[in-house]
Amino acid sequence: MPTTPRHRPVLCQEVVTALAAPSPRLIVDATLGLGGHARALLEALPELFLLGIDVDPDALAQARITLAPFSSRTHLALASYSNLASVLREAGVSQPDGVLFDLGVSSLQLDSPERGFSFRFDAPLDMRFSGRGMTAADLVATLSEEELIRILRDYGEEPRARRVARAIASARQREPLRTTGQLRQVVARALGPRRGRTDPATRTFQALRIATNRELEGIPPALAEAARLLAPGGRLAAITFHSLEDRLVKRTLKRLSGGCVCPPGTRGCACNPQALLDIVTRRPIRPAAAEVAANPRARSAGLRVAQRREA
Ligand SMILES: C[S@@+](CC[C@H](N)C(=O)[O-])C[C@H]1O[C@@H](n2cnc3c(N)ncnc32)[C@H](O)[C@@H]1O
Repeated sequence: MPTTPRHRPVLCQEVVTALAAPSPRLIVDATLGLGGHARALLEALPELFLLGIDVDPDALAQARITLAPFSSRTHLALASYSNLASVLREAGVSQPDGVLFDLGVSSLQLDSPERGFSFRFDAPLDMRFSGRGMTAADLVATLSEEELIRILRDYGEEPRARRVARAIASARQREPLRTTGQLRQVVARALGPRRGRTDPATRTFQALRIATNRELEGIPPALAEAARLLAPGGRLAAITFHSLEDRLVKRTLKRLSGGCVCPPGTRGCACNPQALLDIVTRRPIRPAAAEVAANPRARSAGLRVAQRREA
């Protein structure tokens, strides 16, 4: 398995500061990844017990190595944050003082050529976090052109979604699109060569990754479950990497702090606001310039924090 010496957890000090506030005894890292945030929290808080989960067996194996010095203060499990309540129950713990979500893809996943997350390597078009279920290649082969348009538009914010979807639909009639290289070429032909810093395939790859892992659907219920499980005064911290995630987190935290998020003009309220949390950060905390210079992947990151109301 590749190790990633370059791995730097994003907004690390900011996460530690946000979650250290109520002197935590138990923190759940709901997206353990390589264990970078977990290690920083365990180092900063000598009394802390950390429950770490990830759906990716490779990530969990890597985190076990990173966190080996803290094995008496950690419990790591292969699980989804969609099952937080049962994960806590099985670990024999309750009422965490902090829950961290560092959403999206890890550097281990992006930098592992065979996982198919990146167009920097020619590899099977896989993109599954858990290694289970349909691959991105399966989606490319089976989605209708209309569904492809919706995914590219909604999950990739691709302004030329129709053109890319049409190119994919016509290319797959000639031969199955099974690799990252094939897909990148189809998108490049449809949109023309790179202009500026961003590769034309970036949005398409983001859209397919989000669709393959059903990433966005899981976020609001997981945040709501975390808010419900937190101890009074406990904190929920969420790091997002693009505007789709950030909007979803912002909206969900607003609803969980008693605000209505129904679209303007809705008659009555149908969003079921719950006054469980107080918002700690009105705007997302952004990485300092020095962090972005050292780790360009941090440039779009934002951290939002909320606190469980006292009973
Ligand atoms: C940005 S990385 C986290 C990096 C981590 N904070 C660190 O310091 O190394 C996001 C991680 O979330 C995991 N993940 C994605 N969906 C998940 C889910 N539903 N449940 C648990 N983990 C998930 C991914 O497999 C990935 O390892």
